[in-house]
Amino acid sequence: MATENKAVITLFGATGDLAKRKLYTALFKLYQKGYLADHFALLGTSRRPLTDEEFQQIVRESISNIPETENGQAEAFSKHFFYKSHDVTKPEHYEILKQRLAELDEQFGAEGNRLFYMSMAPQFFGTIALNLKKQGLLTDNGFNRLVIEKPFGRDFESAKKLNDELSQTFSENQIFRIDHYLGKEMVQNIQALRFGNTMIESLWNNRYIDNIQVTLSEKLGVEERAGYYDQSGALRDMVQNHIMQIVAQLAMEQPVAFTDADVRVEKIKALRSLRLYTPSEAAANFVRGQYDAGDGTNAYRHEDGVDPESGTETFVAAKLMFDNYRWSGVPFYVRTGKKLADKFTRIDVVFKKPLIDIFANPRSESDQSLNSNVLTIFVEPNSGFAIQLNAKRAGQGFTTEPVDLRFLQSDSDKKESPEPYERLFHDALEGNHTNFASWAEIAYAWKFVDVIRKLWDIEKPQFPNYTPGSMGPAASDELLARDGRKWVYRLNH
Ligand SMILES: NC(=O)c1ccc[n+]([C@@H]2O[C@H](COP(=O)([O-])OP(=O)(O)OC[C@H]3O[C@@H](n4cnc5c(N)ncnc54)[C@H](OP(=O)(O)O)[C@@H]3O)[C@@H](O)[C@H]2O)c1
Repeated sequence: MATENKAVITLFGATGDLAKRKLYTALFKLYQKGYLADHFALLGTSRRPLTDEEFQQIVRESISNIPETENGQAEAFSKHFFYKSHDVTKPEHYEILKQRLAELDEQFGAEGNRLFYMSMAPQFFGTIALNLKKQGLLTDNGFNRLVIEKPFGRDFESAKKLNDELSQTFSENQIFRIDHYLGKEMVQNIQALRFGNTMIESLWNNRYIDNIQVTLSEKLGVEERAGYYDQSGALRDMVQNHIMQIVAQLAMEQPVAFTDADVRVEKIKALRSLRLYTPSEAAANFVRGQYDAGDGTNAYRHEDGVDPESGTETFVAAKLMFDNYRWSGVPFYVRTGKKLADKFTRIDVVFKKPLIDIFANPRSESDQSLNSNVLTIFVEPNSGFAIQLNAKRAGQGFTTEPVDLRFLQSDSDKKESPEPYERLFHDALEGNHTNFASWAEIAYAWKFVDVIRKLWDIEKPQFPNYTPGSMGPAASDELLARDGRKWVYRLNH
C-alpha cells in the first residue's frame, strides 16, 4: 500500500522540454500509484504568461499518452497544478510565489513540505537558490528540498561556485542532484548483484578480475541538442556524471547497510582512490573522437547549430585505475559516443583465466585454450545479466566452448519498473539520497575529468575520425590492445 507524500512542489522551467516530456508523466504515474494523492500541489513558473487553466491543459497534453486507471483521473490530477509567470532574475517576483505557495500549502494540507525543482538552464540555479532564502520561501514546519538538473558545473571551479551558492540556502542533505542514470533499474541492481551474492562478491577484486568495461553507446547523433552539445562534448555530457557514477558503484566497498548515507560514504571513498592522472598520463589513457558523414547522414561538423570547425568530441574512451587494495592493477575501460553501432548500455566484467589451463597443456589431448569468464550486466535497452562460462562441447573428443547463462527482465517486470524520473521524484519526496550524486562525488569526478579537458582544449584534434555505425575511432581499440586486451562488445567478432 503506497504512502502518500505531502508537499507543494515548485517547478522552475514549467513550460520547458524536460517538464513536458518527463516530469509531468513521472508525477502522474506516482499519482496513479497513490504516492501522490490529495495533499500535493505543483506551482509551475516560467516567464510566459499562462492562466492556471492553460497550464493544466499543458499538463493534460503531456500525460495524454498514459492510459488512465480510473475515469477522469487525468483531469483530477491536473487540478493540482497552478501557474505563476515569473522571471527568476527578478527578486520582486519571489514575493508573489511566496504568497501563492502559502495558499496552496493551506488549501492542500501539505504541512509545510516544500520541494523546489530547478528544470532550467544551469546559469539560473544559484540565483534561484539565493532568492528562495532571501525572500523567505522556505518553511519552518516541514521539509525544504532542492532537486537540481544536470549539468552541475562545467569544471571543478564552476561546480564549486554553484555548490557554494546552493549551500547558502540548502544543506547537503536537502540537495538532490539528478543523474537520471541512477534512476535506472539495472544500475540500482548492481548493488543487489554484488552484495546479495557470495558467488559474485567473493570474486569481486584484483585476484579474480582482469578488467572491467563500461559502454554507453548511442545510435543517434546530436539531433536538436547541438547548441548545448557543441559547448559540452561527450566528456562533460556523459563521462563526468553517468560513467563516473556507474564506475563508483562497481568499485565501491560493501556499505555497512543499504542506506543512502552508507552507500554515499563508500562511493566517495571509491572515487577518492581513483588515480588522478598527470597531463601526460591523461593523454595516454584517454581517446577522443568525432563522427564523420555516413549512411546518408551529416558529419558532426555539418549538423545544424554546430561550428563547422568544431573540435568537440562526440566519443570518449578511457582507462581508469583505482589505487586501493581491492582494485590495484585492474583497469576500468569506459567508452561512450554518438552515432555508434547501436543504442545500449552494458558493463562487462572480465575474469582472469585459470592460472593453469590443463586443456592447453601439451600433455593433454586437447589443444583448446579457455576463454575468460565474463559477467555482462545489461543496463539498457534490456535489463539483466549474462555469465559466460567454459563448458565441454557435447560429442566425441574434448573441446571446450563458451556457454551463456542469461537472465533478462520480462516484459511484465519492465512494466513494473518505474521510469528513472518517476523513481527519482519519489526518492526526493521521501528524502532518500541513494540515487542522487553528492557534492563530494561530483567534486572528485570533475577533478579527474578536468585534467584531460584542459589538455584537449589546447590541442587541436584530428577530426572527424570515426564513421557512423562503428564503435568509435581505431584508437579506442588500440587503448586496450596496448594492454593485450579487447573490448568484449565489438563489431564483427
Ligand atoms: N530536456 C531534456 O531532455 C533534458 C535532459 C537532461 C537534463 N536536462 C536539464 O534540464 C534543465 C531544463 O532543460 P529543458 O530542456 O527543459 O530546457 P528548456 O526547454 O529550454 O526550458 C527552459 C525553461 O525555463 C524557462 N525560463 C527560461 N528563462 C527563464 C527566466 N529568466 N525566468 C523564468 N523562467 C525561465 C522557460 O520558459 P520561458 O521561456 O517561458 O521563461 C522554460 O520553461 C536543464 O538544466 C537541462 O540541462 C534536460
